Amino acid sequence: MSLRDIPKVELHLHLEGAAPPEFIRGLAAEKKIKLDGIFDADGGYEFRDFAHFLSQYDAACTVLTGPEEFYRLTRAVLAESAFHGVIYSETFLSPDFCGGGDLHAWRDYLAAIAQAAQDAERDDGIVLRGIATAVRHHGAEACRKAARVAAETSGGFLTGFGMAGAELEGRPGDFAYSFDLAREAGLRLTAHAGEWGDAQRIRETLALGVERLGHGIRAIEDAALVQELADRNITLEVCPGSNVVLKAVTGWDDHPIQKLRDAGVPVTVSTDDPPFFHTTMTAEYEGLQRTFGWQEADFRDTNIAAAKAAFCDDATRDAIL
Ligand code: HPA
Ligand code: ZN
Repeated sequence: MSLRDIPKVELHLHLEGAAPPEFIRGLAAEKKIKLDGIFDADGGYEFRDFAHFLSQYDAACTVLTGPEEFYRLTRAVLAESAFHGVIYSETFLSPDFCGGGDLHAWRDYLAAIAQAAQDAERDDGIVLRGIATAVRHHGAEACRKAARVAAETSGGFLTGFGMAGAELEGRPGDFAYSFDLAREAGLRLTAHAGEWGDAQRIRETLALGVERLGHGIRAIEDAALVQELADRNITLEVCPGSNVVLKAVTGWDDHPIQKLRDAGVPVTVSTDDPPFFHTTMTAEYEGLQRTFGWQEADFRDTNIAAAKAAFCDDATRDAIL
């Protein structure tokens, strides 16, 4: 079986960050919005480092205004994921970019994205669930707004709450109120941690009650923490290609995914923001095969780990296992 054909479960994909540059450019032209300096000479996204990536990301999102745009985006993203063998995906979508925390606007955006998911399930055979995601560098108040609208719309398509953005701003505990609110509304929890932050920050993030970590790779620096992740079955949403491009690791050879897996931590594989990082699920699998010799059985293991950690109901899980 080719790597592309392996049925895949992807848990860590930013919906806005999955927008192809030509999609963003087309919307900018339609809306007559000038997007200076976000594209390189070849038309791809341009950024120097993680902080610049985040500001370019926010800039690209300024043209994604309206439920119809998110419908089109979701269909395009899911068609691409399905092409690479993804059968189940979870996507981060941010209330900050979908109405700015206004509940009525958020409901409209969410309905459009859920409709796109339903249509893609019919046409492309891929299932999508949503994780409402706060953007850390937008601040704790924006995070609370995101959690409030997420809590109001918990259930069905929206199954989780998470947090992305600049990991080193503030402390994880600053966002505890939002995670408590989301949990009480029945949402499952994940947060980016250990992409840039150290073991201490990962521990503080675990104290928010998350069941999964976005990235989590710096856990490798602390053997006791690695053991704790394994013992507590905390699943890592690992995005090797993203880590390489953003220089969270020095290269594929240096990536800790194999060591974490060998230590019994449930690791899963995702693309994060594929067009930004010039990656696809197939390319991630190629990297893992090339670097660590992963074979079909290894990919099956990681997909089973992903299905087990997916924020979906048991019937959906049974269908993808
Ligand atoms: N890290 C943190 N925040 C993000 C990312 C990422 O890779 N992508 C979009 N928001
Ligand atoms: Zn991410």
